[in-house]
Amino acid sequence: MHGLPHPARALRHICVSAVEPGHISAGFLAVRALTVLPGQPDSIDLTEIPMPSPADGALLVRALALGLCGTDREIIAGEYGVAPPGETRLVLGHESLGEIVEAPPGSSFTAGDFVVGIVRRPDPLPCPACAAGQWDMCLNDGYTERGIKARNGYGSEWFRLEPDFAVKVECALGELGVLLEPASVLAKAWDHVDRIAHRAPFWKPRTVLVTGAGPIGLLAALMGAQRQLDVHVLDRARDGLKPDLVRDLGATYHAGDPGSFKADIAIECTGAVPVIADAMTRLAPAGILCLAGVTPAGRRIEFDIGTFNRTMVLDNDVVFGSVNANRTHYESAARSLAAADRHWLSRLITRRLPLSRWREAFEHRDDDIKVVIDFVS
Ligand code: BGC
Repeated sequence: MHGLPHPARALRHICVSAVEPGHISAGFLAVRALTVLPGQPDSIDLTEIPMPSPADGALLVRALALGLCGTDREIIAGEYGVAPPGETRLVLGHESLGEIVEAPPGSSFTAGDFVVGIVRRPDPLPCPACAAGQWDMCLNDGYTERGIKARNGYGSEWFRLEPDFAVKVECALGELGVLLEPASVLAKAWDHVDRIAHRAPFWKPRTVLVTGAGPIGLLAALMGAQRQLDVHVLDRARDGLKPDLVRDLGATYHAGDPGSFKADIAIECTGAVPVIADAMTRLAPAGILCLAGVTPAGRRIEFDIGTFNRTMVLDNDVVFGSVNANRTHYESAARSLAAADRHWLSRLITRRLPLSRWREAFEHRDDDIKVVIDFVS
């Protein structure tokens, strides 16, 4: 069997089929999946689930890779996540990459296409945002999310997708396609920064501060660099891969303290309360701060709301939150990944482990950026 297309192979623009001829789904009654009992800490296990049924989507997809993130860790800790109605366990995983094995004739997909599944599904009502395809802006909390909220995720050997919620990935990207979902979240953040910026067309932002050099921060920085902005990234690491990756974007790295630096745009990606408070004081006039990291409730610190409010008002600053992504953001993220340096992107994946070693994949390592479970090797 071929291994998962490796960045090195992807660099040579070779599209490699991961599925052996004849190794098709029909024979499988059960598949292996990473599942949890939401609300119960450390219930994660590799369990068998029934082969997904066509009712779950017309596209049958064989998993190639699954990216892990902080949300998965919160779900494993029992702090987040909801099982599908009538079920006790939730299939984990929302950062997917798979290969289509069956697609309905006449659809825009064919066997062999590499795809990523969109995470959110509109609420059934639907609210005006979901009705307009902007489920990332759902107004009534009735949305579901694969691998997170009331819908099984992509952490299983086979999964199904509705064509409207599948995004084709250039197969030349190979394994790096697994970065599309996290990149979509940043594409949305940048889209909303742009929309807010339209209030003052004369305003030409030059500087951006990104807090956090994890996968979200680095993808935010990549998109800032692609916009030709002067990008500054702040993280705790003193040396190693994170500062190197920042510098290789042509950006400036700050270990801990950016001094008196003020930014036109800031994207907060740590969810760490002191960092958020600091970011709120670092906007230049007419500045825009996007909060993109999720914080556990109950983290309190002392904060001078008087000075904050005074500065926000007198400087016309904006602070806003951003989560998830709709189809347009996946498409824009796919363009960013396609335009990025493949070697730089491949260095974001610091560990890849086969499904049989899934437990190790969830172990915390300080120097990890993105850990990926490889479903093929
Ligand atoms: C996912 C988003 C999701 C959010 C909240 C993030 O990890 O990338 O798609 O909306 O968690 O559940």
